[in-house]
Amino acid sequence: MKHTDIKEVFGSPELIGSEVTVCGWVRTARNSKNVAFIELNDGTTLKHLQIVIDKAMEIDYEDALRLGTSICVTGKAVESRQGSVEINAESISVIGSCPLEYPLQKKRHTLEFLRTMPHLRGRTNTFNAVFRVRSVLAEAIHTYFQNKNYVYVNTPLITGSDCEGAGEMFQVTTNGYTTKFDNEEDYYSNDFFGRRAGLSVSGQLEGEVAAMAFGKIYTFGPSFRAENSNTPKHLAEFWHVEPEIAFAELPEVIETAEDMIKTVIRTLLDKCPDEMKFFDAHFENGIIDRLEELISHNFGIVTYTEAIKLLKESGENFQYPVEWGCDLQTEHERYIAEKVFKKAVFVTDYPKEIKSFYMKQNPDGKTVAAVDLLVPGVGEIIGGSEREANYDKLVAAMKDRNMNLDLYSDYLDLRKYGSVPHGGFGLGFERLIMYVTGVSNIRDVILYPRTVGNVR
Ligand code: 4AD
Repeated sequence: MKHTDIKEVFGSPELIGSEVTVCGWVRTARNSKNVAFIELNDGTTLKHLQIVIDKAMEIDYEDALRLGTSICVTGKAVESRQGSVEINAESISVIGSCPLEYPLQKKRHTLEFLRTMPHLRGRTNTFNAVFRVRSVLAEAIHTYFQNKNYVYVNTPLITGSDCEGAGEMFQVTTNGYTTKFDNEEDYYSNDFFGRRAGLSVSGQLEGEVAAMAFGKIYTFGPSFRAENSNTPKHLAEFWHVEPEIAFAELPEVIETAEDMIKTVIRTLLDKCPDEMKFFDAHFENGIIDRLEELISHNFGIVTYTEAIKLLKESGENFQYPVEWGCDLQTEHERYIAEKVFKKAVFVTDYPKEIKSFYMKQNPDGKTVAAVDLLVPGVGEIIGGSEREANYDKLVAAMKDRNMNLDLYSDYLDLRKYGSVPHGGFGLGFERLIMYVTGVSNIRDVILYPRTVGNVR
């Protein structure tokens, strides 16, 4: 169907006075004595295009006034009274009619209500803005790394080794539920891969393999976690950006994370002014200023040990008590970012017991060279580390955790053959979107959220 995007109609003053054809879904319609008006949206912009129907003209328009109907309109683009553009319709054809039971009849629906219809909610202003931001950020992330000589690699989604070791892997199996097996070994050896397999919680281990060949790499794909956490910031399937840098220690990992976040937010503010104004007006007042402020200052940095001290001295009544050695909960992370630093802050050097086996062991024998980036409103959006590059130390850490070394032989080989200091991080893409839009539930920044008890 040859037509002009509504975004182009708004952005091309030279179209005024000429005939254009547009397609879209009817957002609102008004029918008065001599004229009828349709607000049309085709998804290419947040703005709705006004279609003016002069009833004196022979236009068959009645069926086109129903909300949700998809229509094609040809008419003259003219300047509207507000100085914008509208279309004086000459012909209208209904592409797909829409009955009255169309659920998006009201102007504003709650996000909870819209979650019950992921297949339709994209047609609301909120989701139009969220998904434009998502798309622009994705491109900005690719551009950031591509401009800096990183190779984009696609790491496997099905894996035989657990990266984070937190027991959160979804199992991949073709064994039916009626099949009987003598024991666990029998079960797995008769399965599709002949051994236990799962969906990857992170592309990092394979990302390290690639970085040890290509120097600097990044992945951008889904990770899967069978975490039983029903929170506003956890998904069972989320999109994960994971750069891995050879010949780099923790400070370079931190520098890269800060530079990447600032660069992609700058791009977002430049490319999505309408969407950001929408979020400022409807989700978080002042969000544009807050992001401008964020990218014009250095992020904070504090060690875990100092952070624990700050939390203990805070006088706050936290739900989860704070002691050196505890994992930081969202309430602690938000206190550090929102009350102490009032900006994004890196927390470094966590106790080795609460972090993964692969992190570089610090000389103190107690902590590892880990880093998390905490932001106001959300908490952790990035987790990363320098990796343990020493074969013996890595093996010792794995043995401490009773890990099966055979499953990680490729990974260990990297420490045998020309090992180098290296590190990287993982950015939760949806968490970044929550942060930059002010949308407070992760289920509202992904097309189809997968959470405990929820898949469709
Ligand atoms: O801190 P995590 O677990 O780190 C890793 O997976 C490392 N392998 C990354 C690396 O160094 N290459 O996860 C990284 C980020 C978190 O900071 C968070 O933003 C996001 O991934 N994340 C989730 N996002 C949504 N739902 C979940 N269930 C998430 N789990 C982690």
